[in-house]
Formats: sequence, structure tokens, C-alpha cells
Amino acid sequence: MEFVLDTADVNAIKDLNDFLTIAGVTTNPTIITKSHKDPETVIAQIIDLLSPEQKLFVQVVKTDYEGIMEEARKISQLRPKNMYVKIPVTQAGLKAIKTCREEGIHTLATAIYSAAQGFLAAANGADYLAPYTNRMCNYGDGVGEVVRLLEMLEKAGSQTKVIAASFKNCGQVNDLIEAGIQAVTVPPEIVYQMVGHPATAIAVDEFSENWQKEYDRSEFFK
Ligand code: G3P
Repeated sequence: MEFVLDTADVNAIKDLNDFLTIAGVTTNPTIITKSHKDPETVIAQIIDLLSPEQKLFVQVVKTDYEGIMEEARKISQLRPKNMYVKIPVTQAGLKAIKTCREEGIHTLATAIYSAAQGFLAAANGADYLAPYTNRMCNYGDGVGEVVRLLEMLEKAGSQTKVIAASFKNCGQVNDLIEAGIQAVTVPPEIVYQMVGHPATAIAVDEFSENWQKEYDRSEFFK
């Protein structure tokens, strides 16, 4: 299971990548605008932070087929390997995903709101599918629809991985990991919620206090 960060916040990537096992970073146009930096600058900073083995996913901005392909070819060249082009599953996007497959460009089909959209993008050769889990909850059972997509792909023998996106709480992430999803991309604020639990800090304080009382020191060895 790949645990990916859904952010262009360089400080958060640096911090979380330091103590967690992070498979990569996903961005989209909105996420990049939130950095308030020039897009090329922020992408270069993220590339600097990632090891060559960590994946980077960058989304096209243009919406017509030719424009998507022009940007996809450029995005795919940003790194020598583990570079993925995110393409929304519009009709033009689906066509572009097919062409990218033919050209050997790795893709992530994004802005997926139904199992059917995901399945069709997989059939076109997308490497990853990003269903918008929380946003799908506006139309029904978001987590359930992602699980349905996983089952459809498994029954079809598809090699395409699902990287669930658009999370608003830890429970949604846990539910999909439990369902056997191949990847999740999670915003830093939810990752910090997953990491932290007030009871852990209380337990550690208790260990230190008891040790200090008994041995009159704060370390294990004298
Ligand atoms: O990659 C962004 C996707 O995860 C959408 O997230 O929070 O805008 O629904 P959100």
C-alpha cells in the first residue's frame, strides 16, 4: 500500500517525509495555487525533496485534447523516472490517457466521481485512478463507490492501481486501507491527525515520570 501526500506545501512534505514512509506526492492546480508560489518553482522544490524512488504526480491545466497532450509530454519530462501526469477524466482527458499509454507516458486519471469513470480510464491504460472519496459522498456512499471500483478492477484482472483522494477525515482513509486499496493520497492535516493521539503523549509522560521518581534520572543508562 502506497501512502502519498496530497499537497504542494514544501514544509509539510519535508516534515512528514522525515518520519513517515511516503511513496510520493500528488498535486493539482488548486493545490499549487495554495502555495502562492510560481508553479515551476514549487514543483522544482518538491522534486528536490523527493528521492528518485518517490513518485510525483502533476496535473495538466489545459482542457482540450491537444493542450492536454502538449502539457503531458512536458510534465512527463520533469524527472527521469517516477513522474506521473494527472489527467481529469473528461472525454478529452480519456482520449489523452489512451495516447499517453501509446507514448509510454505514465498517467493518473483524476477527478473520478464514479466507479464507471474509473473503470473506463483503467481500460484506456491509466496507471492510477484517483476517485474523489469525500466529494463522492455528496452523491451517495463515497467509500462504498471506491470499494466497488476496486472490485470491478479485480474481477476484470486490471493492473491499474487505485489511489483514493479527497479525504476529509481519518475514518475514510482507514476504511479504504482496510478494503485493500493500493494507494491513498492524504492532505497533511489529516496525516497529522492519523499520527497524533493525546493518549500517546500522556503515556510517554507517565513513563518518564515513573522512571525519574524511581531512579532519579531521565535516561536509561547511567
Ligand atoms: O488531489 C485533490 C483531491 O484529493 C481533491 O481533494 O479536498 O479538493 O476534495 P479535495
